[in-house]
Amino acid sequence: MSKVFEPNREYAKQARIKNMCEYKELRLQSEEDYIGFWDKLAKEKVEWFEPYHTVLDESGAPFYKWFVGGKLNVTHQCIGRHLKTRKNKAALIWEGEDGSRRIITYLLLYYRVNRMANLLKNKFGIKKGDRVILYMPMIPEAMFAMLACAKIGAIHSVVFGGFSAEALRDRIIDSEAKLVITADGAFRRGTPYLLKPMVDKALEQEGCEFCNQVLVVRRNFEHIDIVEGRDFIYNDLIVHESQHCEPEVMDSEDPLFLLYTSGSTGKPKGVQHNSAGYIMWAQYTMEHVFNVTENDTFWCTADVGWITGHSYIVYGPLAMGATTVMYEGVPQYPNMGRWWNMIEELRVNQFYTAPTAIRLLHKTGADEPSKYDLSSLKVLGTVGEPIDPDAWHWYHQEIGGGRCPIIDTWWQTETGGHMIAPLPGATPIKPGSATFPLPGIMAEITDEEGNIMPAGEKGLLCIVKPWPSMIRNIWGDPDRFVSSYFSQCKKDGKPVYFSGDGAMYDDDGYIIITGRTDDVINVSGHRMGTAEIEAAVVHHEQIAEAAVVGCPDPIKGETVFVYAVVNDGVKSDELKVSLNKLLVKEIGPIAKADHVLIVPGLPKTRSGKVMRRLLRNIAKKEPITQDISTLEEPEIIDTIQELYNKQMKS
Ligand code: PRX
Repeated sequence: MSKVFEPNREYAKQARIKNMCEYKELRLQSEEDYIGFWDKLAKEKVEWFEPYHTVLDESGAPFYKWFVGGKLNVTHQCIGRHLKTRKNKAALIWEGEDGSRRIITYLLLYYRVNRMANLLKNKFGIKKGDRVILYMPMIPEAMFAMLACAKIGAIHSVVFGGFSAEALRDRIIDSEAKLVITADGAFRRGTPYLLKPMVDKALEQEGCEFCNQVLVVRRNFEHIDIVEGRDFIYNDLIVHESQHCEPEVMDSEDPLFLLYTSGSTGKPKGVQHNSAGYIMWAQYTMEHVFNVTENDTFWCTADVGWITGHSYIVYGPLAMGATTVMYEGVPQYPNMGRWWNMIEELRVNQFYTAPTAIRLLHKTGADEPSKYDLSSLKVLGTVGEPIDPDAWHWYHQEIGGGRCPIIDTWWQTETGGHMIAPLPGATPIKPGSATFPLPGIMAEITDEEGNIMPAGEKGLLCIVKPWPSMIRNIWGDPDRFVSSYFSQCKKDGKPVYFSGDGAMYDDDGYIIITGRTDDVINVSGHRMGTAEIEAAVVHHEQIAEAAVVGCPDPIKGETVFVYAVVNDGVKSDELKVSLNKLLVKEIGPIAKADHVLIVPGLPKTRSGKVMRRLLRNIAKKEPITQDISTLEEPEIIDTIQELYNKQMKS
């Protein structure tokens, strides 16, 4: 592996964890007294309304309960408790794509959230435990809405604004939401776009009748249809609500939010996170992994529709009383220097983004960063997919000036917060490695029986002990929760959490993530199940049968590759256009296929199972090492390979 980058010694002096000895000491503490380690953190970090009586209840494993009996409200942790010392500090700096800015102090955030919480209660009858869907652009009201739900104990479920009406409908139905909060639209690439029509379409469909309330934030003031009695305008109503609202007293284990994510089979699953464990870990990781200090400005470029936006735009930064930045638009508008310009103007200190964005800005705007003063930066983060050496070195050198550590954070929707990541003042960094598990996180690379893999050999990435911010359930489907996460791997005979990722130790024990071991693909950092895409593809009237796999891509990481068996006379180019229209309609633009290959049949076993692994080998240009003689029609592999070669040449 490549060179090791030692932490900057001057910087390390101000870091919370200053060297590897301190890191190892913390790890040791957590290994020797697991309960005591978490107990201390929970007491130190959370401002409890009432203390808990039990740190961890394992009696219903794998439905673990943390900090049992404790009472709190996440908004008190994120806003209320800061009013004593930080009422005039910027909680949020928001920048619209058009360059307009809104700066919301902690006191103003408190009032905004209270007003919205009152509106949800008074106008829409939302109570503790009710589900509310948020289908929002990147505007401050998305943050207010999340926190307003948390204030009154409602469970929010944010649906990424890039999802289609169909995908939105599925999430409304699965969560049985009482209300949808949306916006007319926002701005992207300099032009207004609309979200509200998607909500109209979703709610018109069968099965959605129970959800008959919509709150619309006016952002771009484009024309939208208003359904009388169902749709209400936030901007008109909010002014009548009081800015005082008592927080609902929540149990540690009361749900905070659901976030739908893709699995290897079936429909997206509603990952459930509960209050206390989630907020404590969001805060702890902000403090330690990014080492944010009092006057710092922290910017995470994710969308609030993903877990990264939840934990590191909203909950983590606010829980620690930091200033968080939110940006409405795309990094390319009005030019490739937009982000670097924002870093210069806002004097951003920690910047957190995805490798796919780094690759895009590197490839098409390589000279841009040198036009800006990026000297305020102290820590750079990445998330969502492996970072390749080219992108890493460019990010390190051109954005971080060679002085900022690159914090490669491995985690998932299900883990709530970072699991494996370097600590900026302590960990010697190797490009391409997320390095070591955070203190208290018992991540191991094992075989299915829990034996640790030797260096250089791929294994399964498991978390062998429960941790406070872990997924609590799949909404409405506890059996799926157990089978998705606790059925593949064991440790000492007991089921343990399997992430779905493969990984490997190097000779120094550094962890290298090798990618998903299941049928989940990662397109531009967006996680999608190939089964979910296949289910949409087969709705195409000209497609008889199809298989979807991921295919490597220099910018997006992976792209969607469809093998389709079609009716006679269908042409490949036309098929791709109509298929992509369908995918946009059923899932959203992120599911568009970059490659569509028409094939005469799919490789199947004699029992009819499609051998996707072989198709993945072809799409990834990997040699086929598997025995294909047991296939129903082994010759099909050569035929598909030839068709593939022909298409790639043309
Ligand atoms: O495969 C891993 C990849 O992203 C998956 C989780 O996706 P999602 O739940 O959407 O959450 C993304 C943001 C936390 C993981 O199973 N992944 C995440 N971080 C990394 C990564 N792969 C390699 N390196 C990472 N740092």
